[in-house]
Amino acid sequence: MKTLRVALDGPAGAGKSTVAKLVAKSLGLTYVDTGAMYRAITWKALQEQINPADEAALTAISSRVQIDFKLTSEGQDVFLDGVDITEEIRARDVTANVSAVSAVPGVRASLVKLQQEIANKMGVVMDGRDIGTVVLPDADVKIWLTASVEERARRRYEEMTAKGHQLDFEQLKRDIERRDELDSGREHSPMKRADDAVIVDTSGLGIEAVVEKILHICRSAEAQN
Ligand code: DC
Repeated sequence: MKTLRVALDGPAGAGKSTVAKLVAKSLGLTYVDTGAMYRAITWKALQEQINPADEAALTAISSRVQIDFKLTSEGQDVFLDGVDITEEIRARDVTANVSAVSAVPGVRASLVKLQQEIANKMGVVMDGRDIGTVVLPDADVKIWLTASVEERARRRYEEMTAKGHQLDFEQLKRDIERRDELDSGREHSPMKRADDAVIVDTSGLGIEAVVEKILHICRSAEAQN
């Protein structure tokens, strides 16, 4: 299983990171959260007060900075130029701007290259939006993880309120719909299901059931290799 390359794509809030971490752990693969990389660039751009519409400046940042991951029992910590920004990249202003930053071709080019380099060195479960279509078109397993907008909003709401954040459910739902639209409507590498990806709809399913389903698909792929 050590060299299996699993592409796990789907919209925001479908449960990709939770599921990807558990699948990676079970199979002895490295979990790679590509959304965290786009968030890291967005965080840096906000720090430097760069306009999210300034493509040249964003491209320059993405080719200049060093992004590293450190595996932990929880998943992974994210470092930018040696600074731990694991918590910071989940902030609301980062979430609000990340779709614009991730639509910039120069940013995508740098990050896709980094993602491909990681997957060339080790077996991975890589979670994102374009892994099965652009980053790893030859992945051994491609999963498209999805759930209804209602369910995705409910999960995010519960997660955030459990952490003590106060938010409006309807607003959260609109934010998720808006992010889906931006991510799937952008010109470069839009969020798109690969033709050969297996669709796993997690609406009404518990995490364990979803993980079992994906492990089964991975083991079948391994047996065929
Ligand atoms: O998975 P996430 O919510 O942390 O992703 C943050 C944003 O990054 C999301 O709005 C879309 C973008 N993204 C992307 O364009 N391509 C990827 N491979 C991963 C994320």
